[in-house]
Amino acid sequence: MANKAKTAGKKQEKDKAIDEKTKNVLDIRDMQLYFQTGKGIVQAVDKVSFALERGKSMVIVGESGCGKTSLGRAILRLLPENVYKYEGSCLLNGVDIMEYKNEKFRKEIRWKRAALVPQSSMNSLNPVLKVSDQVAEPILIHDLAETKEEARDKAAEAFKKVGVPVDFLDRYPFELSGGMRQRVAIATSLVTDPDFIILDEPTSALDMLTQANIMNVLTRLKEEIDISFILITHDVSTSSEIADMAAIMYAGQIVEFTDAYTFFGTPLHPYSERLMASVPTLEADDEELGFIPGQPPSLINPPEGCRFAERCEEEMELCSEEPPTFEMDDGRTVKCWLYREGGERDGNNK
Ligand SMILES: Nc1ncnc2c1ncn2[C@@H]1O[C@H](COP(=O)(O)OP(=O)(O)O)[C@@H](O)[C@H]1O
Ligand SMILES: [Mg+2]
Repeated sequence: MANKAKTAGKKQEKDKAIDEKTKNVLDIRDMQLYFQTGKGIVQAVDKVSFALERGKSMVIVGESGCGKTSLGRAILRLLPENVYKYEGSCLLNGVDIMEYKNEKFRKEIRWKRAALVPQSSMNSLNPVLKVSDQVAEPILIHDLAETKEEARDKAAEAFKKVGVPVDFLDRYPFELSGGMRQRVAIATSLVTDPDFIILDEPTSALDMLTQANIMNVLTRLKEEIDISFILITHDVSTSSEIADMAAIMYAGQIVEFTDAYTFFGTPLHPYSERLMASVPTLEADDEELGFIPGQPPSLINPPEGCRFAERCEEEMELCSEEPPTFEMDDGRTVKCWLYREGGERDGNNK
């Protein structure tokens, strides 16, 4: 009897350990993606680490050219030919998929477990194919339906999830508005029922009202289906209501990572502060809007220390040495020497 209880206890412990391990749908450690170019090696993604809990959403924000698209592509191994270095670990449900051979990755991961809505995807739909054929394509490629009808049913289901009328399946892309085409692109990523999707700037080519509509679609998806997603954007203001977590990217690195509520209330990294100050609000005059003087550094031979130091008003001597990453008690990480004293910002500096 005692033995039985012991075994049951052990089993519970084991279940708990598995739960703990797979609490995160995604856990990325030290991801690096460098490109070879005629001018040198571009460090587009440099030792990026973060974890995303199942069912949660995360926003990756940063200026154009900071490596957001490259990071999304690194996660889904959609790499250009001029890759110089591609390293790190990427745990999907606790399993390191960086170890997978390309064939296995293509068959088992991309689309089936993780899908990307690429930047400008709404303008990349094939003009001569009906949208039904495009949405159903991932299903057919991965043998997730036995017949074309079944694939079409799944496409119709995905359309419902993103609020596209089902009779639009028989239309051609040019017969749809920009907002509808973006929804079709999102539906295509959902049709294989993946564990998470990455949306790369899904609203950047749209007018304000359509942007709001797409954000509503994402909010609904989050509430109604069990999916985790990463939203990539250069516009910090579009994401505040929808994201659970926020990652701020600067010059190939994540400089701050925390829960979005805390982040939008009190950004800590000086770059995050400036980024937030640049968001127009109803109360602020245009003159009060923050503008960040200077340019991000080149990603070919970037500075050894903090990559923001050159533009930072609070630069200290330490900053040109190694950039630190401090983890606060609540798990928040900040790549800034100002937080070296156990998470408390050095009083002299502000
Ligand atoms: N295939 C490539 N070869 C060389 N450099 C690239 C390639 N793709 C992107 N880059 C460079 O990597 C950096 C990050 O680009 P990207 O990931 O597109 O940034 P973002 O999406 O944040 O605008 C930029 O300097 C860009 O010029
Ligand atoms: Mg991009």
